[in-house]
Amino acid sequence: MVLPFPIKGDHLLRELVPYVVATPANLPLLELQPFGLPTPSAHVIDPLRLESAVFLDLLHKLDGLTFGPEGMPMPKWVFYDCSELPGAIYGLARPAATVWPKVRSLFQIPADYAGLVPVSMYVAIPMPQPGMWFGHNLSSLAPVFRRLDLVPDLDLAGLGSLTKGLALKCFRVQQFWGATQWQSKALYIHAKFGPLALQTAYTPAHSEHETLTYGFRCTDGALRASMGDPGVQIARPPVDAWIDGRDVVRLKELQAQMERGEAWCIPQAPRPQADGMLVPIARWTTACS
Ligand SMILES: CC(C)(COP(=O)(O)OP(=O)(O)OC[C@H]1O[C@@H](n2cnc3c(N)ncnc32)[C@H](O)[C@@H]1OP(=O)(O)O)[C@@H](O)C(=O)NCCC(=O)NCCS
Repeated sequence: MVLPFPIKGDHLLRELVPYVVATPANLPLLELQPFGLPTPSAHVIDPLRLESAVFLDLLHKLDGLTFGPEGMPMPKWVFYDCSELPGAIYGLARPAATVWPKVRSLFQIPADYAGLVPVSMYVAIPMPQPGMWFGHNLSSLAPVFRRLDLVPDLDLAGLGSLTKGLALKCFRVQQFWGATQWQSKALYIHAKFGPLALQTAYTPAHSEHETLTYGFRCTDGALRASMGDPGVQIARPPVDAWIDGRDVVRLKELQAQMERGEAWCIPQAPRPQADGMLVPIARWTTACS
């Protein structure tokens, strides 16, 4: 066991190494040994330095490889202005010297590059209230590995969940906020942290109106549960209804209910369907917090 508790995909932490992107001003505020897993100082990337350019290009490629098919790749300036500078990025990587040949060509890694090649990242931005962060981006190359059969004997299942769990510990998040689409498979991951308190159900302020805004309290238990520690039990209210994220009328109705003061949550993981998934909702109760 690399972490002091069992997780799904323990082998991931033998195949991959952690890295952090943060400015020198933000770095001292981070936990560089989340749950005791050290981030070597050579794996701390300073976005203000020229020597970081290739790694940050690779991160941008990772974003394109994962978010591109979702139709939301990030322009590079957004990466800099809204991620690297105000916030932090935590993820797992493979040293270029041992990176798998198909991954090397996928990323078009320069022949003389000896740094890290990122295979996952979590980006978050601090909000004005101390300990409150907004989750900006989660990327895992695991589905791309599977789709392109990049390393047939390596199963990266669990990479996305592990990356988000370690990242929130690294950023010392106490109260989390996030936004995601009702049809996003990432909801399977987000729900692992516990019931998600809904803040919006239909969000015209976002370019994808069928976006939900959610939050949860970031306890060690929530983080350990997200990584697959079977020893953590999380209280979850019973499901009241199942939502099809394409049903705009239903999303607007739920939004109106919340604007009238009703409190709702996503109590557990979605239910897969042949053509997408259904997302459970429940009345928010004190048992959720
Ligand atoms: C979403 C993403 C991060 C997932 O990465 P990953 O490494 O596959 O994630 P994990 O393996 O940790 O978790 C995926 C979970 O979804 C579940 N899942 C995915 N598709 C599923 C399906 N069709 N039916 C049931 N469960 C499904 C998996 O079973 C797994 O849960 P489990 O650990 O309980 O088995 C990755 O696909 C990605 O980068 N997507 C593009 C960018 C994106 O959408 N980011 C999220 C923005 S909010």
